[in-house]
Amino acid sequence: MKFFIDTANLAQIKEAQDLGVLDGVTTNPSLMAKEGITGQANVLAHYRAICDIVDGDVSAEVISTDFEGMVREGEILAALDEKIVVKIPMIKDGVKALKYFSNKGVKTNCTLIFSAGQALMAAKAGASYVSPFIGRLDDISTDGLGLIESIRLIFDNYAFDTEILAASVRHPMHIIECAQIGADVITGPLSAMEALMKHPLTDIGLAKFLADHAKANG
Ligand code: G3P
Repeated sequence: MKFFIDTANLAQIKEAQDLGVLDGVTTNPSLMAKEGITGQANVLAHYRAICDIVDGDVSAEVISTDFEGMVREGEILAALDEKIVVKIPMIKDGVKALKYFSNKGVKTNCTLIFSAGQALMAAKAGASYVSPFIGRLDDISTDGLGLIESIRLIFDNYAFDTEILAASVRHPMHIIECAQIGADVITGPLSAMEALMKHPLTDIGLAKFLADHAKANG
């Protein structure tokens, strides 16, 4: 299972990379705006900076919503670094753009997936990744993890190469349940990954080991 971090914050990306378990980064226009990255030159420079930190795929999202615009933007993004994955929204022109980039051997991530039908269309168009937003489905009392299960079944039925990238992950249980279902990748905040390492009995046990050692050794 791959771990991606879902942020454009360079310090957090570096911290996750230094942990030694990071496989890639996902960004989106909201995350770039949150870091105050505006204007095409700055956006492209920021993607280059992210690629310099991580060993793995870096999803960079197009802003255009028409086929020609997505192709134009995607080609500029893909030329930045071989780690770049062109992130394309699940809309009709987006499906055409997925097919275009798939034919050219450029990796893609189809974003804003909220149904199994959308995931199937993206896989048919040759997407490298599909990004079902499980947290946003949970937010509206819909079963985000159930969607991961459905997509897993469909992709396995037909041996699609498209990887399931569970996005909008909010907490460690999302990661654990995605691992049980067989999602190929999760992307989420550093806090969710760090929470996987925590257990109160580990802290209590370590404190006791250290106290016993100190007592025995003066
Ligand atoms: O990057 C796409 C997705 O992970 C967004 O997550 O937390 O904004 O729903 P969130």
